[in-house]
Amino acid sequence: MTENAHADLVVIGGGMVGLAVAYEAASRGLRVTVIERDRVAAGAGHAAAGMLAPASEAEACDQALTDFALESCQRYPEFVARVERDSGLGCGYRKEGSLLVALNRDHAEELDRLAAFQRRFGLHVEMLSAAEILEREPAVSSKAVGGLFAPDDRQVDPRRLQKALVAGIRHRGGAIVQHARVTSVDTAGDRVTGVTFTRAGEQHETNAETVVLAAGAWIAGLPVAAARSLPMRPIKGQILRLRGQPIVSHVLRTPDVYIVPRESGELVVGATAEDLGFDERRTAGAAFELLREAFRLLPGIAELDVSEHTVGFRPALRDALPAIGPLGPRGLFAATGHYRHGVMLSPATAMLLADWIVDGTLSPLLAPFDPSRFALTASPVRGGMR
Ligand code: GLY
Repeated sequence: MTENAHADLVVIGGGMVGLAVAYEAASRGLRVTVIERDRVAAGAGHAAAGMLAPASEAEACDQALTDFALESCQRYPEFVARVERDSGLGCGYRKEGSLLVALNRDHAEELDRLAAFQRRFGLHVEMLSAAEILEREPAVSSKAVGGLFAPDDRQVDPRRLQKALVAGIRHRGGAIVQHARVTSVDTAGDRVTGVTFTRAGEQHETNAETVVLAAGAWIAGLPVAAARSLPMRPIKGQILRLRGQPIVSHVLRTPDVYIVPRESGELVVGATAEDLGFDERRTAGAAFELLREAFRLLPGIAELDVSEHTVGFRPALRDALPAIGPLGPRGLFAATGHYRHGVMLSPATAMLLADWIVDGTLSPLLAPFDPSRFALTASPVRGGMR
């Protein structure tokens, strides 16, 4: 038996980007359905640390991506406030900024290189002496030789944000379907007409004029020819969570590790970047390296409880830039390929895509992320695969 339903917009993929797109569209009055193959909020966003850090990540970006990241970070406070209001749930948005610490001369040289990228992209950072770092964060290793302070970097707790987005979507009348397998994105002529999926052995159809593919690294597995044109691969990230009394308040980084503190005292320590396909192994070597580098930066972690070792898969396109915009038949859009930056880029992705879908307004900020760019050229691999 086939059950029919109607929506204005179907989002395929209930991760960070898909939920943000669905929430934003629902906020603008669209009837939204999210279809997720697994549980919602279980993808890359579940593993992610939640750094909103265009300055710290500058070296892995280019000007277009940095401009988009700045736009997204500027939109974050209003987005989070709205999601918190609609859901009644906090998202752990914090404003302390990042401290980028050099523990030796190699690190100092790497931070000099990073500072050059930051200057080129017009990002604000301050040089700090070792004494100034320790003044701000006394628990940092006394081996610190200097560093940078990025006062405009922010963080959010991606797990709390995704939970709040789910509640916000429901609050705005949206539907969320989990454990569902999409069997086709349906078309008539050159237009999308809806999505057919199976769930618990039953077939369902949701009619919709607009469908957004936001299945992250899993997009190539969707039964949609246009999605297979995207040169997508998963980049595995292993990440640890430690628990104890709060010992720092800033996001801390060296060129080898990042440590993101939550209000609860949890520290998120990340992350590997491994080009191994969907390899779910949590390896001793990765845990060892992450803990070694975190201990070098923050010796006090030795006393903390190791509460989690998680694997996530970042969706990386060949040029390490996202794909946001039309893809294939009219009404079909992609919002994927956010690679290391899905959490940071979610508000701008959701809002600019909603401007496009709802109002027909196309922001020039999205032009570099046209999903059809792969059909036109064989782009070279760009930097940023770390
Ligand atoms: N944005 C940090 C990471 O992907 O590890």
